[in-house]
Amino acid sequence: MANSIQTIQVHTSPAYAVSIGGGLLHTCGQRLKEVLTSCHVAVITDSTVAPLYLDTVCGSLRSAGFAVSSYIFPAGEQHKHIGTFADILEFLAGQRLTRTDCIVALGGGVVGDMAGFAAAAYLRGIRCVQLPTTLLSAVDSSVGGKTAIDLKAGKNLAGAFLQPAAVLCDTDCLASLPAEVFADGAAEAIKTGVLCDESLFALFEDGTLTAAPAEVIARCVAYKAGVVERDEKEQNERRLLNLGHTVGHAIEKCSGYAIPHGHAVAAGLAIIARSAETLGWTDEPVAARIAACLTKNGLPTSTDYSAQDLAHAASADKKRAGSDITLVIPRKIGCCELKKVPVAELLPIIAAGLEG
Ligand code: GLY
Repeated sequence: MANSIQTIQVHTSPAYAVSIGGGLLHTCGQRLKEVLTSCHVAVITDSTVAPLYLDTVCGSLRSAGFAVSSYIFPAGEQHKHIGTFADILEFLAGQRLTRTDCIVALGGGVVGDMAGFAAAAYLRGIRCVQLPTTLLSAVDSSVGGKTAIDLKAGKNLAGAFLQPAAVLCDTDCLASLPAEVFADGAAEAIKTGVLCDESLFALFEDGTLTAAPAEVIARCVAYKAGVVERDEKEQNERRLLNLGHTVGHAIEKCSGYAIPHGHAVAAGLAIIARSAETLGWTDEPVAARIAACLTKNGLPTSTDYSAQDLAHAASADKKRAGSDITLVIPRKIGCCELKKVPVAELLPIIAAGLEG
């Protein structure tokens, strides 16, 4: 059912709007007519999302006059690899999509990353619209134009920046998310609270999200939009958004991508908070409060992988520059800073943050 829609403008090049509210999948065709001229739209989605929303989206697009085709790949981060990516590109070529056509990414973070990267690579770049269906993709990955696939050596090691033409975030999708999948998104929203907004963090502290998810999404997107506008290609400030991600990506890689992104980021956030506090890099105690908040939201606060395994995996992280890597350190809830450390120091830093 259509209700009030919030719109946040992202002033990148090109600029685009993120619309947040109920009923947006049902009306996506009409809404996209405002940003796309009549064209062929290829909807890329996965095997979890397709049975839920693909007919609705394709029907709305066709009713609005778009020619529509769709491609479904197997759900899961373990499929976000070069083989699936190549299959999508061959599909687009087989459908004869041209430079004036468009890809619609319908799904969570994996779909958005993969379809976005296909849009960036196909014909050296065609337009892409993001339709996030999970809390994680709504609060983070659908906005900002990062697209990627995983390589054997690590997570998101091949990709491109491609700002979407529009983001339509239908909050009705969130109601049916399994608790674990909702928790994945809570991890990224809690991360945003630690970065910039103690009151956003506090919304999660009793474990029952009291604010409507739309409010949480809007606050996360508004913050991210500002960061991305100031630093679109992650040369400086945008690196803060990687809070919890260096160890988080290492956990994902060590698990063969069996541990979902949000759960891995949660553990990564708790670990770096404990490390920072132990090493005297915080302004006030943060680790216990962060761990308690994550636990309340069904998220892990540590990992069984050893510091050696995690440091080895993290040393291949794309945030490495030569022999250094930049970590994001929470100084207090709502304020973080970047800290460049030698890769050789990752092992003792991670070890300082592991529980037990
Ligand atoms: N997910 C972090 C970023 O978009 O920069």
